[in-house]
Amino acid sequence: MESKRLHASCSRNIGNDSVNKLKMVTRREILAKKKAIQELIKAAYVVKDHIAFSPLFHHYDRNGLSVNLESGRGDKLSVTVKNYIQNLLKQNMEGHYGSEWLVEEKVKRREMVAPEARYIFVQEGIANTNFNKKTMELIAGKTSTSCLENNGPLVGFVHYRFIVEEDMPVLYVYELQLEPRVQGKGLGKFLMQLIELIAHKNRMGAVMLTVQKENLFAMNFYINKMRYNISTMSPSKVNPMIGIESSYEILCKTFNEEAKTTLEDPG
Ligand SMILES: CC(C)(COP(=O)(O)OP(=O)(O)OC[C@H]1O[C@@H](n2cnc3c(N)ncnc32)[C@H](O)[C@@H]1OP(=O)(O)O)[C@@H](O)C(=O)NCCC(=O)NCCS
Repeated sequence: MESKRLHASCSRNIGNDSVNKLKMVTRREILAKKKAIQELIKAAYVVKDHIAFSPLFHHYDRNGLSVNLESGRGDKLSVTVKNYIQNLLKQNMEGHYGSEWLVEEKVKRREMVAPEARYIFVQEGIANTNFNKKTMELIAGKTSTSCLENNGPLVGFVHYRFIVEEDMPVLYVYELQLEPRVQGKGLGKFLMQLIELIAHKNRMGAVMLTVQKENLFAMNFYINKMRYNISTMSPSKVNPMIGIESSYEILCKTFNEEAKTTLEDPG
């Protein structure tokens, strides 16, 4: 915003050639910036395991809950895991979407298996090396369903992607879903903190996500507990008249001034 204003005021005092040169430089800068952003996204996707950087994030042992985390990707899901994801989505989200659910379910089914979909799976039980090997095989679709029983059941997952929003590289959380029996034990907060770390490590400008307005607990969780803000991209900010009718809000947490100005608070 600032640089645009600066260029506008400069151009009033200089000739046409200079204006053209300035336009070319600006265009070159814009293209270079776009390229740099695409490189960041590409680099983030090259990382095979986004939670490998710290063993601290492979387990969650708190509030009577003992679970293990594993990373995965959309194009490597086994049939069992796909079914699990669909069932949990239906159980947790159908009520919030109401009559929109049938359409939404189809969209989510497609999104689930996209090659750019990245996952963190949460599985109850055994914290040993055997667990890690077998779970990786299961998630990669290389083994039978019995592995689930051997290692304790899945209890939730996060689906996220690295995308560009308003010329900013962001980590977008497509889904954060926990089974009701493991909710309210700090796991959601832990997973969101991990997601924010992954975003930071991969030099994203923000974490973004979409929440149904009906989903009051999730809205409270993100805004009051995790300190997310309603994004300038959310329907209620883009056009408050239309926003009232919209069933969702887009939330974000930004990590630098440019992302804040673009996605959160244009000033
Ligand atoms: C929304 C969700 C991810 C939150 O995860 P969670 O593990 O249940 O939440 P946490 O236990 O980490 O709670 C974080 C905070 O919310 C509070 N909280 C937990 N359960 C609560 C409840 N039932 N009512 C009010 N506050 C609650 C906790 O006290 C905690 O606050 P604190 O850090 O000050 O103690 C999880 O409940 C869920 O999967 N819900 C169903 C699917 C869904 O709605 N996903 C979001 C779609 S956008």
